Amino acid sequence: MKDCDGIFVSEKDIPEKYRVPRLDQREYLLEGRMARWDGPVQEVRSPVCLREKGEIRQRVLGSYPLMTASESLAALEAACSAYDHGRGEWPTLPVEGRIRCMAGFTNRMREKRSEVVNLLMWEIGKNLADAEKEFDRTVEYIEKTVEALKDLDRASSRLTIEQGIIAQIRRAPLGVVLCMGPYNYPLNETFTTLIPALIMGNTVVFKPAKYGVLLLRPLLESFRDCFPPGVVNTIYGDGREIVTPIMETGRIDCLALIGSPGTAAAIEKNHPRPNRLRTIYGLAAKNPAVVLQDADLDLAVKECVLGSLSYNGQRCTALKIIFVHRKIADAFLERFSRAVSGLKAGLPWDDGAAVTPLPEEGKPEKMKAYVDDAVAGGAKVVNRSGGEVHHTLFTPAVLYPVTESMRLYREEQFGPVIPVVPFDDIETPLRYIVTSDVGQQASIFGRDPDMLSRLIDPLVNQVCRLNINSQCQRGPDLFPFTGRKDSAEGTLSISDALRAFSIRTLVACKENDLNREILQTILRERKSSFLNTDFIL
Ligand code: G3H
Repeated sequence: MKDCDGIFVSEKDIPEKYRVPRLDQREYLLEGRMARWDGPVQEVRSPVCLREKGEIRQRVLGSYPLMTASESLAALEAACSAYDHGRGEWPTLPVEGRIRCMAGFTNRMREKRSEVVNLLMWEIGKNLADAEKEFDRTVEYIEKTVEALKDLDRASSRLTIEQGIIAQIRRAPLGVVLCMGPYNYPLNETFTTLIPALIMGNTVVFKPAKYGVLLLRPLLESFRDCFPPGVVNTIYGDGREIVTPIMETGRIDCLALIGSPGTAAAIEKNHPRPNRLRTIYGLAAKNPAVVLQDADLDLAVKECVLGSLSYNGQRCTALKIIFVHRKIADAFLERFSRAVSGLKAGLPWDDGAAVTPLPEEGKPEKMKAYVDDAVAGGAKVVNRSGGEVHHTLFTPAVLYPVTESMRLYREEQFGPVIPVVPFDDIETPLRYIVTSDVGQQASIFGRDPDMLSRLIDPLVNQVCRLNINSQCQRGPDLFPFTGRKDSAEGTLSISDALRAFSIRTLVACKENDLNREILQTILRERKSSFLNTDFIL
């Protein structure tokens, strides 16, 4: 690992364009206005440390409200009255109107790019290239969502006649959605539920994750100005304090959460009428890579480094365990550890920084505990300087050989520690995957089409995306993203998300003169937004 010591500099050495002022957020979005918070706050400390007077300390970025049940219940009330049992302005607005609001929001959002990107770097330690990508990918996601909705609407702007019944079938909103995003993609993954939920006509209570909160502050006025009052409401604070009471009311129709299975279960069980609650989850994953004996090693190494260490391994899709055929294990490890040691450690805006400080409190120590446990069980850290803690920075550690008895074998480390397991028989990784509690994705590296196809068929029934000679990843966002077992509920992609946040509803009548005449009048005079055959161009 290059340049670990000394990455933390003093404030004056941070390039001007990446400096951010202290941001003490006291506002939250309620019923279409910026409400003021005067209660207790959560201090936000950046993973980036600064060197001041010979000491290295995490930069204090600012603070955000630590709300109570009463504010979150008010946010719920606002969302419920904006929805008004499906009779509110937003759920009854024609699709074109909702699209116009979303387009206005996207334009306003674009203006905030550099502010949000800077906060992404400071708040969660994402490097500049990835922070910019997260922002741009999110804008593109919104634009493509609008296009997908137009397509959906065009396909529904006709009547169907079947067995003497005329019907118009469309998708309608679910109601009030509680959206909870993750800290690792606080903008993108949050918006991949928030945006489809909104554009389908739902109203939303939105709670950001514990980290990655302030970066959403620059967007609040845009939400306020671009959507009718109460359509988007934000809450901040401890989940038990503010989420439990709103779930207990039974007025949340849909829970969209990217987080852990434990959190999802704990929140869901508070709903008094579970059958009325739709859930859309992105949860745990422990995606394995399987490197076969005939794999192209350079390619496998390149993809495994990207897959396991992009954003320091803090991706739900990260490769979190690597199985390597014993015959090529030494050669793989030699190249893999060399590549890992070659990654540059730095501050998020430093040119080419790949290893950056970790945002979660106590995370380097948690990573160290994984390393210690594996070493105590007989594994070695095989890369130079692997597993060192430098304040909030943890140098990636490659551990070999990892066995079933070690915590890293099954636990999702969600960070820069990479367990490598040798195998002689392909049954070893296959059994691992079959017996896993999670089933998001897997990667296999090899050249022989016969061998690969023998693995494809059983593995596609274990995971929801099998990557050949490629790392695991969510994108492109047009592709379906989901998982089996404890990994997910529902499918997200640009078009699938529109379906996930809506329900099919139809207006139907028996075919006779009276009904034909009524339908024609309604359509001709454009009396209904649901029952109409307008075609969005
Ligand atoms: O944390 C999970 C993200 O959805 C991963 O997305 O594979 O495009 O980095 P990505």
